[in-house]
Amino acid sequence: MGQTATISFSQFERAADSECAPRIAAARAQLGERCVLLAHHYQRADVYCHSDLQGDSLELARLAATTDAETVVFCGVHFMAEVADLLTGSDQRVILPDLAAGCTMADMASLAKINRCWRELADYLDPDSEVMPVTYINSAADLKSFVGSRGGIVCTSSNAERVLDWAWQRRNKVLFFPDQHLGRWSARKMGVAAEHIQVWDFNQPHGGLSEEQIVSAKILLWKGHCSVHQMFRPEHISAWRQKHPDGIVIAHPECAWEVCAMADDVGSTAHIQRTVRAAKPGSRFLVGTELNLVQRLAVGQEPRQVHVSFMSPLVCMCSTMARIDPQHLAWCLENLADGKIVNQITVPEQLRQPATESITRMLELGAASPGSKN
Ligand code: 13P
Ligand code: SF4
Repeated sequence: MGQTATISFSQFERAADSECAPRIAAARAQLGERCVLLAHHYQRADVYCHSDLQGDSLELARLAATTDAETVVFCGVHFMAEVADLLTGSDQRVILPDLAAGCTMADMASLAKINRCWRELADYLDPDSEVMPVTYINSAADLKSFVGSRGGIVCTSSNAERVLDWAWQRRNKVLFFPDQHLGRWSARKMGVAAEHIQVWDFNQPHGGLSEEQIVSAKILLWKGHCSVHQMFRPEHISAWRQKHPDGIVIAHPECAWEVCAMADDVGSTAHIQRTVRAAKPGSRFLVGTELNLVQRLAVGQEPRQVHVSFMSPLVCMCSTMARIDPQHLAWCLENLADGKIVNQITVPEQLRQPATESITRMLELGAASPGSKN
């Protein structure tokens, strides 16, 4: 495999979506069960329709760990493909159709900044014995490796409380990165007082915190956020509730605290979908998460008379995930069908063991925490 030149992407660049769809189908038919297509719920419709299995981040990690397909084509973002690479066997490979499909939140934490934070914490306490590092799955493999080699753990939006409970059973304090909102929401829901939750501003020495704030904190939240979910605002909920006082507001925990606090229900992308699909006909929802998911849900629920509206008047799409388009999918599948590998994601050898440990610790905790307000 991979001996002759790969098919160049330039052949696909200007191909119409309508031309790509049959090419994707033909390459898939040729590859058969040797290839599985996993897609995150935010994936655009013209790519999602080709996927075999779909899920939230936790479900996709589990699917990657159990598939025996030779090739996993991951229609999601870079960190998801890295997780899949860590959880699949050495005889399997993971392909990300466009390497530029990253996550802006994941990019807000780098190993250099986390190392600096750990060093600065050591000015006031012994981080190795007192602080449990917890990384949201939306982070690069080197951060998962950092966490894994210090006894720490990964979480997703489906299980953050369960993971935090695990962490606090072992150490007094948690350093949670990169999403401050998921960390804050989960900690507050678990009863941690606001004064014991501090935000670590990675652009300032000691996170911009005093010794007293660091020492008394139960959780230190990295000052990161999702550029998509920050667009949802409390005033969007208020305006909708005026029109639909009996409607149900449901938000992803990457939304700001004020939005989650106003919502009737908060949970992962899988939880949001399960909840809406289980609702009685005639129910009405306002949903605060990425547009592709909400539109798909709205169309799917129409026949049941369940009404789904998007929380923001603006278009809030995960523009990085949208880089996985029919052109890139057709390109990587035709190469695969031709015996050539493009855009393989391979986590460097030295990171693999600790990074995998941090993920398996999470997977061993079992089922997701129920996503709900109380
Ligand atoms: P889920 O795990 O809820 O699918 O969220 C992943 C994500 O990146 C949301 O922005
Ligand atoms: Fe990252 Fe936000 Fe996109 Fe999720 S929606 S993958 S957190 S940029």
